[in-house]
Order: sequence, then C-alpha cells, then structure tokens
Amino acid sequence: MKISFAKPGLPATGIVIVTANSGSKLSASATKLDKKAGGALTRAIKASSFEGKKGQSLNIMAPAGTKLDRVMLVGLGKAAEVTDLEMQKLGGRIYAGTKQAKKGSVAIAIDAVADAKLSAGDIAAEIAFGANLRSYRFDKYKTKLKPADKPSLKAVSLHCAGFANARKKYAGLGKVADGVFFTRDLLSEPPNVLYPDTLAKQAKTLEKLGVKVQILNEAQMRKLGMGALLGVGQGSIRESRMVVMQWNGGPKGKGKAAQPIAFIGKGVTFDTGGISIKPSAGMEDMKWDMGGSGVVIGLMKALAGRKAKVNVVGVVGLVENMPGGNAQRPGDIVTSMSGQTIEVLNTDAEGRLVLADALHYTNERFKPKFMVNLATLTGAIIVSLGSHHAGLFSNNDQLSERLTKAGLDVEEKLWRLPLTDAYDKMINSQAADMQNIGGRGAGSITAAQFLQRFVGKTPWAHLDIAGVTWSKADAPTVPKGGTAFGVRLLDRLVANNYES
Ligand code: BES
Ligand code: MN
Ligand code: ZN
Repeated sequence: MKISFAKPGLPATGIVIVTANSGSKLSASATKLDKKAGGALTRAIKASSFEGKKGQSLNIMAPAGTKLDRVMLVGLGKAAEVTDLEMQKLGGRIYAGTKQAKKGSVAIAIDAVADAKLSAGDIAAEIAFGANLRSYRFDKYKTKLKPADKPSLKAVSLHCAGFANARKKYAGLGKVADGVFFTRDLLSEPPNVLYPDTLAKQAKTLEKLGVKVQILNEAQMRKLGMGALLGVGQGSIRESRMVVMQWNGGPKGKGKAAQPIAFIGKGVTFDTGGISIKPSAGMEDMKWDMGGSGVVIGLMKALAGRKAKVNVVGVVGLVENMPGGNAQRPGDIVTSMSGQTIEVLNTDAEGRLVLADALHYTNERFKPKFMVNLATLTGAIIVSLGSHHAGLFSNNDQLSERLTKAGLDVEEKLWRLPLTDAYDKMINSQAADMQNIGGRGAGSITAAQFLQRFVGKTPWAHLDIAGVTWSKADAPTVPKGGTAFGVRLLDRLVANNYES
C-alpha cells in the first residue's frame, strides 16, 4: 500500500478521515469540516452514540455543502490513550473500515492532541504503520478472485504539521513492516512449495540488503557432526539445510563491542510427527512449524532494511519431518554436534533435536552476547497460555526482563515459565545422555530444559510460539493467518538495548 505524508489540508473529494477526543471534542480539522458541511458532523454525533472514545468511529456519507463521498470520524479517546500502540490499532481499523474505497485512496487529517505524549507527526506515522500492517494479504493461489473481491484501497495520505518528521519516522517503521510481511509470506506458502531448499533460497534473497547468507547442505552438516538435526530430516526426500545470516551494522573488529547477538529459529517445513505420526485431523496446521525460522528471516530483513546499528546473526535449521523407509525410529540414539547423545523416544518431539544442533553451532562459531531461539515447539504451551502470550524460558534474568518489556511495547506478550534441576532430571535417559521427551506433565518446560543442555553458559532465552504463530481471527494490526509474532518484538528488543 502506498503511504504518503503531506502538509495539513484535506482534499475536497473522496473519503476523508478526521478525529475527535473523548467527550466528542472535534479536532481543528474536524471543526473546519463541520462548518463547511453546515454542522453535519455535530448533528451526526448527536444522533449517535459516538463520544470520541478510543475504538469508536462514525461515518457520515456525502455530507451536503461538500463534494466528499464520506467523512469518517474516529475517536482518539483521552490524551493519555494516544499511545503508539493505540494509534497503530486505529490505523488498522481505518484500513479495515475503508478498504473498499471505490476511488482507491483516503486522506487522514491529524491534528495535535493537547497533553498527549505523541506529536501530530508521531501519531500520523503510527497510524500509517498500523494501516499498512493490517493491509497484508496472501492471494497468490486464488486464481478466480474478481477485482470486486479484493480491497480497492491502494493509497493513504496523512496530513499533519511536521509531516517531514512523520515521513522520517515512518521510513523505519515501514522497514519493520517489510520484515513482518516477508515472514507472513513464508508462513503462508504451502508445504509442497516451501521446503528446506526453497526456504533457504528465500533467505538468500536478503543478500540484496547487505546480509551475508550462507547455506549449509547435508554433507556439510554431517561433517560438523549434526546428528540430531540430520536424524529428523532423514525420512524426507527433501534435503535438510541450515542457513546462517549475518548483518554487521554495528562496531567492527574482534573486541567485546563487536560481539554479535544471535537469533535461532526452528524451521520444520512440515511436521507429520515422523514414525510417531500425528493424527490426520488438523495436520495441515503443521505447515506453520517453520514459524520460528520465518520470524528469524523476517527479523533479519527488518534489521537490515532499517540499517540497524548492531551485529546480529540469524541461524535457522530447516528440515521436513516425514515417515518413510529411511525415517528415524523411536529408540534411535543420535549424537549431536555437541557430542551429547540423545535417545529419540518420540520422533514427533523433533524441533528440540533441530535446535540442539543449531544452538550449539551458533554458540561455538559466533560466541554471541546472547542467544534467543524461537520455535513452535510444544502443543503444551497452547494448553498453558492459549494465544495471548508466548512462553518465555531463560537462564538469564536481564535478558528475560528486556524481552518481556519489548513484548509489552509492541503487544507481542511473553510469560516466563520456570527452568529447574528437577525438571531437567525428567529428560535423563537409561540408554543415552538424555531422551527427547519428559514425563506426562510440564511438556513445554521439559522441552526447554532439553534446549538448555545445548547453550552452555551463554545468556539464552527460548520463546515457544506454538500458540501465537497463526491466528483464526482478524486483530486490528494482524489479519488472520500467519502473524509474524516475534519480528516486531525482537526488532524492539534490539532497538531498546543493543544499538550503538
Ligand atoms: N510442532 C509440534 C508442536 C505444535 C503442536 C505446534 C501443535 C503447534 C501446534 C512439535 O513438534 C510436537 O509435535 N510436539 C509434541 C511433543 C511431544 C511429542 C512431547 C507435542 O507438543 O505434542
Ligand atoms: Mn512434532
Ligand atoms: Zn514440530
């Protein structure tokens, strides 16, 4: 969608959007328009329940005295409610409410709000960001859509004082949206199209933004001893891959300041469960099982796109978990790159096997400041937290607090769960150094304990995103489907704490 910023003033035709505060107090632009329309706005307010509260809106069609098709009056609420998150949501609602605009464009007047933390320019940039995030669609495989079935809205112009600042602020936000869209695209592709090799090739496209991208094939991973990851992929005719992405926007050299931070993603492009096969009902959802890797790739796009001043490594382990003549069996013992052996008691607990080698490899090669991994790791986290928080597990309080804060900032919320020796013991094995499942309870925690055995002393956090990676209902800035939960969160983590 085309977003533009211009000086105050609204077009005389088409759809225009103006604001009101709590108590239905019209903004300066709305007041001006109301006069021109012979009081149509104030009359419409009196005839409705509109009070300028946040989330409220009122449409006034073809007001007399103007040549406009429609005036949309939106509520900002109280000054304290004019926050970046609320303005993004407002932008999302504006998009949803005007996406069928016949003329293809809408204009929004943004006036300064007395006592609000955000300037008019900030408000405009956040509204634009929210509208853009909501406009995401994945129509690629719909061959019979008629133009009328698609949104006609193509352009939003925002008119405010300080529009040059708004434009500048939006430049960064727009890059984050590009990263989010890339992740949503990867999530939406079907598993016959997106498999380890093709997903790796998608990551490779980041080279044009200046990201260094290296793809490891099975022979290279075998040489490195990645028996845990390779065991998962061996039942598939699709070769496994590992992709290493580096964005070096921070200090150069070998000193502490140049030490990178690292993000690692589970990329199971389809999870049948393997020989421990899943029930058929709902198995199609397991195309989302590459969600963690999709977030890491989209995050790298966002960071490189906005030229973040940070050294960052993204590593994704890409496999397809299939049954087959050469598939891994329950009872197999594999040797991970770390040298630790794993008894595979359930081939459906495969994400942790992929991450074991990806985490160890990242830690050993890059000696990062910290590692954060993302994975659609357990169904149990959906039982615990549903879809409103992702699970957070960590060996480091500072990293946990920073992640939690970033999550609140962008409304991708995290909830921390415990890691302790007692849970760790639950994955001790009779036959090997560990087994890949625990007992009946605490399934998300034992999975996290398993990962912790591969991170050494490096500060680390694991985000179990199984419940938040896709959604079945539209939210203001997240249309239903792949959410890209994690891209905005980790972009914010970096912006808040790690840019020089
Ligand atoms: N990819 C699944 C986890 C999952 C389940 C994600 C449902 C999203 C929705 C993972 O590989 C898995 O199968 N985990 C098992 C672990 C069990 C065998 C210990 C699970 O959660 O049932
Ligand atoms: Mn599984
Ligand atoms: Zn899985």
